[in-house]
Amino acid sequence: MSENQNPNRLTTAAGRPIWDNQNSQTAGPRGPVLLQDYLLHEKLAHFNRERIPERVVHAKGSGAYGTFTVTQDLTKFTRAKLFAAVGKQTRVFLRFSTVGGEKGSADTERDPRGFAVKFYTEDGNWDLVGNNTPVFFVKDPVKFPDFIHTQKRDPQTNTKSPNAMWDFWSLNPESLHQVLILMSDRGTPYGYRHMHGFGSHTFSFINHDNERFYVKFHFLTQQGIKNFTAQEATEMKGLDPDFAQRDLFEAIEKGDFPRWTLSVQLMPAADAATYRINPFDLTKVWPHADYPLQELGVLELNENPVNYHAHVEQAAFAPAHVVDGIGYSPDTMLQGRLLGYPDAQRYRLGTNYEHLPVNRCPYGFSNYQRDGQMALGDNGGSGPNYFPNSFDGPQEDATVGEPVEELFGPAARYDRNAPGENDHYSQPGALFRLMTPEAQRSTIENIVGAMSGVSGPKRDEILQRQLCHWFRADIGLGMAVAQGLGLNISMPAHHAPAEATV
Ligand code: HEM
Repeated sequence: MSENQNPNRLTTAAGRPIWDNQNSQTAGPRGPVLLQDYLLHEKLAHFNRERIPERVVHAKGSGAYGTFTVTQDLTKFTRAKLFAAVGKQTRVFLRFSTVGGEKGSADTERDPRGFAVKFYTEDGNWDLVGNNTPVFFVKDPVKFPDFIHTQKRDPQTNTKSPNAMWDFWSLNPESLHQVLILMSDRGTPYGYRHMHGFGSHTFSFINHDNERFYVKFHFLTQQGIKNFTAQEATEMKGLDPDFAQRDLFEAIEKGDFPRWTLSVQLMPAADAATYRINPFDLTKVWPHADYPLQELGVLELNENPVNYHAHVEQAAFAPAHVVDGIGYSPDTMLQGRLLGYPDAQRYRLGTNYEHLPVNRCPYGFSNYQRDGQMALGDNGGSGPNYFPNSFDGPQEDATVGEPVEELFGPAARYDRNAPGENDHYSQPGALFRLMTPEAQRSTIENIVGAMSGVSGPKRDEILQRQLCHWFRADIGLGMAVAQGLGLNISMPAHHAPAEATV
C-alpha cells in the first residue's frame, strides 16, 4: 500500500523506512530470531488479519463503477433529484453476486444472482439491493435465516444438502415461483452481463405534491438474456470458477461497457387496497398487463475498480438507504431487510463502514455521530456533538418529509398464507406455460436433476410433497417431473391445479 510522498521507498505502516525485507534479524547467522525484529512482527501480524468476515450470504461477487443516465421524464411521480431531468447523470457502483456459496465458490452455481446498485446522489447514497429475479423464496423475514441455512452447508457433513433445500421448499409452497425460476436456465446465467436485475420489492415514489406511488424497478439487459445449460454450468465450474468475474472485468477493460435499461411499474397508492394481488407480497409479480413498464433511464458500467478488497469486498449496500423522492413500502420482507443489512455491516466492516471510500457519500454528510473504531477523517473536528445546539451544527430539513402513509390495522402475528394470500400456484403455472418448449424441457430436466439429490428415510415424503406443488402449478409440469423421477402418481383431487389468473 502506498500513501507516501516517495512511493518507491518501502516503509512500515508507520512510515519508517525498511532496509532489509528478505532477512529476519537473528542472533548470529544461524541463530534464532530476535524479539526486537519489529519489521517481522508487523509483517506477520498484518498478514494474519487480512481476511474480514465474508458476507453471510452473497459472499462471492464482482463489482464495477458506472453511470446512470435519465432518458425519460417521470418527475410527476418522483421528486428524487437523480431523476430530475432527462440527460442527468449519476455515478453508480454495482455489485453482482451468487447467494449460497463462499467467497471462493464457483460463479456458475445454480443460484439467484445479486444485483445491488449504489447511486451516489446529491441527496445521499441510494442503494437498490435486488436480485436477477422479480420474486423471492419467502414472504416473511422471520423465515430468512432458516431458508439460508438450507442453502448453505449441512452442519454435520459440511456439504450442500438437497434434502434440506427440498424439505424446506416443499414445506413452504410460497417459494414455488422463485424455485421455478431458479430451476429454469435463468438459474445459471452466462455471467452477469446477460441477465436482468430487479429491485424485487415494492418501493414508493413520492412526488413534489407529496403524493405516493408504489413502484417496482426492472433493469433489462441490453446485452440480451443468455444462460448456461446445466451441463455447461457444471463444466464451467471446473474450467473457470471465476467465469463471471473474468467476463465482466474483461468486457469493461476492453471498452465493451454493459448496459441495462431501467424501467418501472407504477401503482397509485390508492390501488394497493383493492388490487387483486397483494402488491407487497414478494413472492408475486405485478403482471405487466395491469401495470406496464415505463422507461426511466440507462445504467452503464464503465470502470473497473482498481482494488477488489477496497471497493468490492468493502462495499456495503442497504435497502434502508433511500433518498428524498423514494420511500419504503409495507412489504414485510423489505421491512426485515431495513434492519438486517446495516447490522450485518457493522459486524462485517466495523461501525464506521460508511466512511470507507466505496460507501462514502461523495457529496458529504453532517451529523452528530462521533468516535467508534476507525473513525476516518477529522471525526467532526471542533463542531458540536449534540443536538439541538447554538453553535451552527447541522439542522433538520423539513422539505424532505414523507407523506402520511395509511397502515393496515391492529398489531398481531398475521398468517401470511391465510385464504386469499395462499395462491402459490397461479403465477408459477402461468410462467411455465409462457416458456418455449425448449425452456420447459430444460427446466424439467433441471428440476429432476436437482430433486434426484434427495436421499435417506424422508426421501419419498419430501419428493411427494414437492411433486404436489409442481402439479398444482401445472399438470404437465407435475407429470413430467414425476416421470423423470420415476415416481408413481396418485394425485388427490385437492391437488388439481389452481386456475391461472395472470
Ligand atoms: C428478510 C430477508 C433478507 C435478509 C434478512 C437478508 C440479509 C442479507 C445480509 C445480512 C446480507 C449481507 C450484507 C453485507 O454483509 O453487506 C445480504 C446480502 C444481499 N442480499 Fe439479502 N437478505 C434478505 C433478502 C434479500 C432479498 C429479497 C434480496 C433481493 C431481492 C436480497 C439481495 C441481497 C443482495 C444482492 C446482497 C448482496 C449485496 C452486496 O453485493 O453486497 N436479499 N442479505
